[in-house]
Amino acid sequence: MKFNQAIPHPQSVFWQEDHLVLLDQRRLPTETVYLHLTTPEEVWEAIATLAVRGAPAIGIAAVYGLYLGVRGLPDQEEIFWAELERIADFLNSARPTAVNLSWALKRVVNKAKTFKGEPVSSVKQAILNEATAIHEEDVRVCRQIGEHLLTLLQDGMGILTHCNAGGLATGAYGTALAPLYLARERGWKFKVFADETRPVLQGARLTAYELMQAGIDVTLICDNMAGAVMKQGWVQAVIVGTDRVAANGDVANKIGTYSVAVLAKAHGIPFYVAAPASSIDLETETGEQIPIEQRSPEEVVAGMGKPIAPEGVQVYNPAFDVTPAEYVTAIITEYGVIRAPYRENLKRVLNG
Ligand code: MRU
Repeated sequence: MKFNQAIPHPQSVFWQEDHLVLLDQRRLPTETVYLHLTTPEEVWEAIATLAVRGAPAIGIAAVYGLYLGVRGLPDQEEIFWAELERIADFLNSARPTAVNLSWALKRVVNKAKTFKGEPVSSVKQAILNEATAIHEEDVRVCRQIGEHLLTLLQDGMGILTHCNAGGLATGAYGTALAPLYLARERGWKFKVFADETRPVLQGARLTAYELMQAGIDVTLICDNMAGAVMKQGWVQAVIVGTDRVAANGDVANKIGTYSVAVLAKAHGIPFYVAAPASSIDLETETGEQIPIEQRSPEEVVAGMGKPIAPEGVQVYNPAFDVTPAEYVTAIITEYGVIRAPYRENLKRVLNG
């Protein structure tokens, strides 16, 4: 998918003629830098270091990366198919928690296999076509999630979100933030509270940035202010994204989401999880089996470039946590609003 001027926020991923372009999210909001990538190694690095981040966006970047890796391969079938699998595995190793990464890579590899027996050049084209299809589909899926979420919301509500599950994290519009963009098209006004989201501040750097770019009312709060803001009656719904939903409805998302869910329950506020079907993993039975990425201590002790803790201090830095299904009011997918019992209802919706 090419650069699209109609999108109301900065576009984080696009395909430009013969290479992948990523808006470098590590440098936002102070610098707008585009990375022009031509190899799977560069794409791996961009995913691992959070230049591109957010579950759907890393899946999209990875499948373009897969095409970048195979497009120059010779026509010998044996080498081609072995390399395709190897590069897909390599890209899949960039981050462990978001299932969208392996979902997108598997989908493209499986599509390629349906072209077995045809010239390698046709398989390569099919890989690029499928990557583009995943990208374009994600934009449609996000809008559908936004439509379904809007049925749960009313004009004027206060909405709290954690991390960035917005346009920057997806093909466009985001998952949790999609209803905000759709509401804006309809003249509705929400008051959004964005948790800053330590340690690397996706809420402050990215959510506040993209909503402000779109003219949406957003107030930045530190993570430890969420309870106080809820207690004052300013929040009528919490909406977050997810990296993986287990078969029982447990939900992995950015570290700190679990605390927000517990606070929401204590204040009687609905806790909604926006999830494209590609984030639902029926093969993972419960949240306990979701692999949680551990990231560098540097993010905690010098996340903003400046040391803020004594040198050598012990650090625990999981990038995600799991919110048990009992805290989740509803999971909103492109197919509609799913409520408990999740084990039955997720399966029913996913199996059509
Ligand atoms: O570490 P990140 O920035 O990739 O974490 C992102 C999140 O936790 C998002 O909420 C999630 O991927 C959903 S994005 C639509």
